[in-house]
Amino acid sequence: MKYRLLALALATAAPALAQTAPPRPTFFDKGPLMSIGSYYYPEQWPHENWARDIKKMAEVGFQFTHYGEFAWTFVEPEEGKFDFKWLDEAVALAHQNGIKVIMCTSTPTPPAWLAQKHPEILVVNADGRTMQHGSRQQASWSSPVYRQYVQRMVEAIGQHYGQDPRIWGWQLDNEPSHYGQYDYSPAAQASFRRWLQAKYQTLEALNKAWGTAFWSIRYTDFSQVMIPNQKELPEQPAPAAVLDFKRFSADEANDFLSFQYKILRKHIAPTQWVTTNLMPEHVAVDPTRITGLDFLTYTKYLVAGYDNGVGAQGFRMGSASSIGFANDLFRSFNGVTGVMELQPGQVNWGRFNPQPLPGAVRMWIWHAFAGGNKFVCNYRFRQPLTGGEQYHYGIIGTDGLTPSTSGLEYIKVIKELAAVQQQYRAGAKMPPAYQRRQAAILYNADNRWEMDNQPQTNQWSTMAHLKRYYDALKQAGAPVDIITEAKDFTRYPVLVAPAYELLDKNLVERWRQYAQQGGHLVLTTRTGQKDRTDKLWEAPWAGPILDLIGAKIPFYDLLPEAVTGTIASSGKTYQWNNWADVLAPQPGTETWATYTNQFYNGQAAVVSRPLGKGSVTYVGPDTDDGALEKEVLRRVYQRAGIPIADLPAGVVLDWRDGFWVGLNYSDKPYTMPVAGKVLIGSAEVPPAGVVVWKE
Ligand code: GAL
Repeated sequence: MKYRLLALALATAAPALAQTAPPRPTFFDKGPLMSIGSYYYPEQWPHENWARDIKKMAEVGFQFTHYGEFAWTFVEPEEGKFDFKWLDEAVALAHQNGIKVIMCTSTPTPPAWLAQKHPEILVVNADGRTMQHGSRQQASWSSPVYRQYVQRMVEAIGQHYGQDPRIWGWQLDNEPSHYGQYDYSPAAQASFRRWLQAKYQTLEALNKAWGTAFWSIRYTDFSQVMIPNQKELPEQPAPAAVLDFKRFSADEANDFLSFQYKILRKHIAPTQWVTTNLMPEHVAVDPTRITGLDFLTYTKYLVAGYDNGVGAQGFRMGSASSIGFANDLFRSFNGVTGVMELQPGQVNWGRFNPQPLPGAVRMWIWHAFAGGNKFVCNYRFRQPLTGGEQYHYGIIGTDGLTPSTSGLEYIKVIKELAAVQQQYRAGAKMPPAYQRRQAAILYNADNRWEMDNQPQTNQWSTMAHLKRYYDALKQAGAPVDIITEAKDFTRYPVLVAPAYELLDKNLVERWRQYAQQGGHLVLTTRTGQKDRTDKLWEAPWAGPILDLIGAKIPFYDLLPEAVTGTIASSGKTYQWNNWADVLAPQPGTETWATYTNQFYNGQAAVVSRPLGKGSVTYVGPDTDDGALEKEVLRRVYQRAGIPIADLPAGVVLDWRDGFWVGLNYSDKPYTMPVAGKVLIGSAEVPPAGVVVWKE
């Protein structure tokens, strides 16, 4: 208890992230456990189709729709002249059919007249090319001129629909990002300098933090500072400068969204919520830095030729960690999340665009349910006939009438959800055996930005590393939260901080207290090498954590792709290839795994020590198959005295609101430990199958 208070005090001292935001109204208390909706674009279809399409949407069971995120030119066809007549009609049609509306601000698509009059609003990319009108996300969040126009449009739409009970909530922008580009426009350069001045106050502080004595970079005036751009630099920029630019860009996205939120909130009813939709693993915009909205939602496309998943059919289902990680990350902000866009079948923009496995769309929707989402919306109701997303499925096919294969899966799942809803009783308690396994993964985008910039090996992937631990926890059957340092760690028996490269002594102290009071802490590869300004410690390697882990880290090693490092642990052999911290344990620290080849054959790879009522474990290697990571977590739970499950890769078993949900992303049937009344499916779950039961 005492520690709990201390932990809270320390947590309050951490940076103000979304997870510290005061509790807000939940907005969804009275509705169904999870609502299902579909995007519709009245402005993209002949007027005579609207009534038919929206009626059809209601007939197949959708409960809400989503309007207007790309409609600025129709909302404000001429500068300062707003036209809501067409949108009013679309809102009325939705209402007549019993469908609620998510209304959007259309900031990702400024009208042609705006870019023509003010080309200075346009993003300039790393190559110095100015983005042009002709698709979307071409405007700079830093441009004061763009913001003036945004302000006027958001005011207008907020005034028009803010008190309209037919509007359920609001989405700001759409996937705010510049789709892989960073903004180097003059407006962004100026804003970056202001951000640096606010952060460092003096040039001396900036020069020191960035280490500008190196290569004579030293600045003598803030106006000399440019965004570090590898395309303009013969050699690498100061890593601290790159990290600050990534932080700035993410803060700029937050600033742009908060700016819109404040305008909208002046006009809208307290019952209307405001969110945005983010891509959970997209790196330029950091969900943990979005502070001002009511909650965050995510967008998910699993099958687009990038993710091979598990087994021969994995490319048709994606990985279980894709939706799982998004659920567990987004739910931890303000306790509420939804899926704003879910893949409706085949897409058009992938590396290749296969058909999802029959059943996969339905499984994804149930996965969203299992993760606690309040709603799932698919992008989009009708397959487009023109525009940049031809060949992209909708719920209804090209004829405008016939449900697509995934449309049919939606129709099925809507009925199934209604049946499950009927079995819902409020107040269900999480089963104790499941609750005991609760784990958190500590996430800070600073680490990802920094290690992406300085990977040290072509085989390093921060997200792949993190997901090896995430997968291992889920296969242990644990409920997982992805949390930031703003959260209290003490409610989680197991806390994993994967590759936590940047830290300060305050965090190390919180970790120590966490373990002393009974927590089981797992630190991994690369942790603790630098301070928050990106500086290596003037101390032995990873100095601040050595006492905590009870070992030294004399050096690390990296191998070529074709060479495999070997490790022995409990009589089994494991392989690594990406990264290996070689460890030298102090007396009292156990060695759980040892390197068995290369010149450090016989030296420690994984160490663990009891600390107070808990323990600290350090995992030196990063493997490809995650087998060692899984074994280490099994031993950590064993040491904690917490029994775990042993689910195969691709099999998910989650609990929500009194319901167990079993899903199978693998290519072999799996028999779930069903105990109770089966509501959906059956205990033997085929690939892309679902079982739901109630104890
Ligand atoms: C999303 C985007 C949507 C649509 C969709 C196509 O990332 O937010 O507007 O473009 O992809 O798959």
